[in-house]
Amino acid sequence: MPKVLVTLRVNGEACEVAVPVHKTLLEVLREDLRLTGTKHGCELGECGTCTVLVDGEPWLSCLTLPVEVEGREILTVEGLAQGGRPHPLQAAFAELGAAQCGYCTPGILVTAKALLDATPRPTRQEIAQALSGNLCRCTGYVKIFEAVELAARRMAEEAAPAGAPVSAPAGAAGGE
Ligand code: FES
Ligand code: FES
Repeated sequence: MPKVLVTLRVNGEACEVAVPVHKTLLEVLREDLRLTGTKHGCELGECGTCTVLVDGEPWLSCLTLPVEVEGREILTVEGLAQGGRPHPLQAAFAELGAAQCGYCTPGILVTAKALLDATPRPTRQEIAQALSGNLCRCTGYVKIFEAVELAARRMAEEAAPAGAPVSAPAGAAGGE
């Protein structure tokens, strides 16, 4: 089987892998790089469980060939924690019970990170829209939305100068 040599940047590190041309990014991450946080789901682009970030944007790794993302910055759920501290999204999901079986969680966490990076105080509607491609069979989504809101609030508080008020998301009616 013909192989191609590709250089990927994953979670801030460059790595070179020789892979069969048909092998998807999802398979390369899990089987060659042993980054098994990203999950196999439908492999048809319908469930979102295989989502990773490519240059900060959510991508379905089951529909991506490694050569398409050579030289671009790939972030998987393993790269979310920084300096031994979980990302605020990870902490909020754990605290609020937003993960049950957890199978959808890696894809949802990275998709939510992309949302908060672009829109630091999203409304509930914006969160629902951003996560509309990520299916969860367990939670009913409410706890997931609440966890994203909690993480957004904490990140805004951390980013604000001491004593400055943290505004509610645009369009939010009342408290969160
Ligand atoms: S496994 Fe990629 S969208 Fe379902
Ligand atoms: S927590 Fe089970 S699929 Fe989402």
